[in-house]
Amino acid sequence: MSPHYSVPDRVSAGSSNICPTMADYHRVHAESMAHPDAFWLGITKELVEWETPPTIGLEGGYAGIADEQFTWYEDGRLNATISCLDRHLATRADKTAILWEGDEPGDVRRISYSQLHADVCRFSNALENLGVGSGDRVIIYMGMVPEAAIAMLACARIGAIHSVVFGGFSADSLANRVLDSGSRCIITMDEGLRAGKAIPLKATTDEAVAMVEDELAGQSGAGVETVVVLKRTGGQIDWVEGRDIWWSDACEGQLDSHQAHIVSAEHPLFILYTSGSTGTPKGQVHSHGGYITYTAFTHRTVFDLREDDVFACVADVGWITGHSYIVYGPLANGATTFMFESTPLYPDAGRYWDMVERHKFTIFYTAPTAIRALAAQGDEFVAKYDRSSLRVLGTVGEPINPEAWEWYWHTVGEGRCTIVDTWWQTETGGICISPIAPATPVVGGSATLPLPGIQPRLFSAEGEMLEGEAEGLLCIEHPWPGQTRTIWDDHPRYVETYFSTIDGYYFTGDGCRRDENGYYWITGRVDDVINVSGHRMGTAEFEAVLVEHEAIAEAGVVGFPHDIKGQGVHAFLILAAPSKTGTAGDEDGQGDGTSGYSDELGQALNQLCRRRIGAHARIDRFCVIPGLPKTRSGKVMRRILRKVAEGDPGNLGDISTLAEPAVVEAIVNAEVHG
Ligand code: WTA
Repeated sequence: MSPHYSVPDRVSAGSSNICPTMADYHRVHAESMAHPDAFWLGITKELVEWETPPTIGLEGGYAGIADEQFTWYEDGRLNATISCLDRHLATRADKTAILWEGDEPGDVRRISYSQLHADVCRFSNALENLGVGSGDRVIIYMGMVPEAAIAMLACARIGAIHSVVFGGFSADSLANRVLDSGSRCIITMDEGLRAGKAIPLKATTDEAVAMVEDELAGQSGAGVETVVVLKRTGGQIDWVEGRDIWWSDACEGQLDSHQAHIVSAEHPLFILYTSGSTGTPKGQVHSHGGYITYTAFTHRTVFDLREDDVFACVADVGWITGHSYIVYGPLANGATTFMFESTPLYPDAGRYWDMVERHKFTIFYTAPTAIRALAAQGDEFVAKYDRSSLRVLGTVGEPINPEAWEWYWHTVGEGRCTIVDTWWQTETGGICISPIAPATPVVGGSATLPLPGIQPRLFSAEGEMLEGEAEGLLCIEHPWPGQTRTIWDDHPRYVETYFSTIDGYYFTGDGCRRDENGYYWITGRVDDVINVSGHRMGTAEFEAVLVEHEAIAEAGVVGFPHDIKGQGVHAFLILAAPSKTGTAGDEDGQGDGTSGYSDELGQALNQLCRRRIGAHARIDRFCVIPGLPKTRSGKVMRRILRKVAEGDPGNLGDISTLAEPAVVEAIVNAEVHG
């Protein structure tokens, strides 16, 4: 495909002006590599408000990671919310900080910087009054309302560490996160609202707290002491006296000013749980100084931010994209940031473009899965709205296929807007590989070039660094300020996950190709993480849930390409012997182990996934097989399952090390349900 070139020669005066031209980009990138400390100290002094500005850049590195975390700006002191709120009062008090649209079109709130500052201060005082203090962990389990952002900022302001749990997660998942983080306060709401449906957030919180109590039974002084409840729908909820308190009552009589608690640069700002290839979700820890620097820097650089922009990132604050590019990055830059409670298809597929017309978004940031879903609904939903305000269009979360990219470019952007395909991860804190709008020449499907401060490296499976045009494992050399420092309460797992694959480099878990122009093309996860509609899920999480069911002896779960969702979930099931269940097994009596599936079983398994993980964890396809393909040492060869699920069974590679090569034929021939 021939590249689409957008205005190549300058960014506007309103942007950071870091890379007006590609020559500047290459110069700045080289400088950031040659003198990283000077580069990042300069950036943070320009973009962040410090109580005590740092004189130290990076301390430590990947080499000593097993023994010690690396740090950025170690001698600096600040509170990230001062950069997001207080400093804008002098120049932007009346500017809209948060522009919110509720579930119903036209239900709009505009919160100015002075109002947001007051609201955050009031809630900070409320939290302190409830006994929450610096270093305490607080779970935020809410829908997309401005109070979710206010809750995050209030926690940060008092030095508490928030952990936002996406509102789609189940009571089990919520309870696990409460337990892992040791949170004693949960902020939730009566009900969320999405596409006309109420989501029982308080009821799920009650269920989760009961699970936590069971788990901690007998341990004095532990458990959830406070549940703050925001009223959204007024729906019926249960109430536990002494533990539950309405948001409005907690704020009653509290002052609307609050002195931010100054912390060291490395003080944790938040924990956000992500799925990995093994076991339970990992609590990624981000810090005040590095994270706020990196999100502010990347937000203004990548999107060519201008003072009068209306920046619309339609992610959920329950994921990292919402943290970095709805809340922290835009507010640190004094931008108007949009928050959206509903879905792209409610009440119809024109919702985004209707809002573009009404709110005059200038920058719009979404996920490829939404683009594909909307493209499938036809162009008329786009065409009937005026999109002339749009200047920059962004994507994140998964590789974007050329068809979706072309539709975004032509149909949505009318060939006029720059598209930034931004590659990054929860672990990276902010965007790492992306065009810089509008300077970088873009080509559909490529995240193009690394931002200043980022040095991608590709490695072969054998651990050899690949130069020039190549495809391999994507790693990043040298730490940057936005990177997670550890996994909450499990530093060894952090070291093992990210630093044991390629010695001395951060391993991303992604595969990647570098073309002849040095452009990067992300090919997808190479580990056992599946990316469904931009939601990261571990295959091991599914497998653990499936074998809980009495009919299932073993399970192997892999992703497969899906037209809308990017990846779908395919489960290979080995049924328990009839003696375990009394029902399952070979009903046809053939003894090949590939029948015994019923729609009821599939539904029961999906209900279990929903209950244990969340509403977004749904298996698309099942097939029953006689056994998993294992090596003689008992390791499952997932490559074989993946190839079969991808519909490429002719290309299984070497299967000579399998304990039972015959099982492969049964897997290839197994009937697929769903
Ligand atoms: C994938 C989301 C291709 C990738 C911010 C990564 C992408 C995972 C892109 C992180 C992109 C994200 N092109 N793939 N532009 N952006 N990914 O932690 O596999 O939810 O490792 O962070 O999403 O997902 P996470």
